[in-house]
Amino acid sequence: MPDPKGSLPSAPGEPPEPVTTADPTRSGITRRGFLKGAGLTAAGTALLDGVQAFGAETAAPAAHGVTELGPGPVPVRLHVNGAEHVVELEPRTTLAEALRIHLGMTGTKIICDRGVCSGCTVWLDKMPVNSCMTLAIDAVGRHVTTIEGISPNETMHPLQAAFVRHDAMQCGFCTPGMVMSCAALLERNPHPSERDVRHAVSGNLCRCGTYPKIFAATLDAAGTTRNA
Ligand code: FES
Ligand code: FES
Repeated sequence: MPDPKGSLPSAPGEPPEPVTTADPTRSGITRRGFLKGAGLTAAGTALLDGVQAFGAETAAPAAHGVTELGPGPVPVRLHVNGAEHVVELEPRTTLAEALRIHLGMTGTKIICDRGVCSGCTVWLDKMPVNSCMTLAIDAVGRHVTTIEGISPNETMHPLQAAFVRHDAMQCGFCTPGMVMSCAALLERNPHPSERDVRHAVSGNLCRCGTYPKIFAATLDAAGTTRNA
């Protein structure tokens, strides 16, 4: 029976390999690799630098000089949309879950929750990433930007205004991820070609088929977007 979530076939006895985003500017992490790395990441030196200052009592020394965090919650400091937040998270918590469940920022959508659709796109230091495939603790020490934070004081980003003008959404579920991917493109290339836009959203899936209007909206916004 085919996997309804779109896994690729693999060798007998091996779990299926999930489809990953086509955009090479993204991390290209598979779910298998993500899960394998989760345990290692929890013990990473950089992570401990960011987490232990808040939760040294929850980090237990273990064999071979490696310090383990979790599985219970540990205090984690996240920098989101220009503000710092300290939240208690299990090390396995994804950035998407931390944003939506722990910080109440529900603009970031979780759709496939396996790195396939890019509906959960946020920026890490202005680079678009799939937040369902990023551990929250891996965002420690980095600047996270969500759809709530791409424009100040609840004003619309020029790209969001262009999406409205071009009616570039139907159900709207993919829209935050699309906006984050296209806005990231405009940050690094304020005058993209349509080919550039197509490439920027090559990992973003829209089941409603609004791609032509998304391309038009992004090209319309180009030149009106601040070149940060
Ligand atoms: S890539 Fe689909 S929800 Fe994250
Ligand atoms: S507008 Fe419905 S999934 Fe894109």
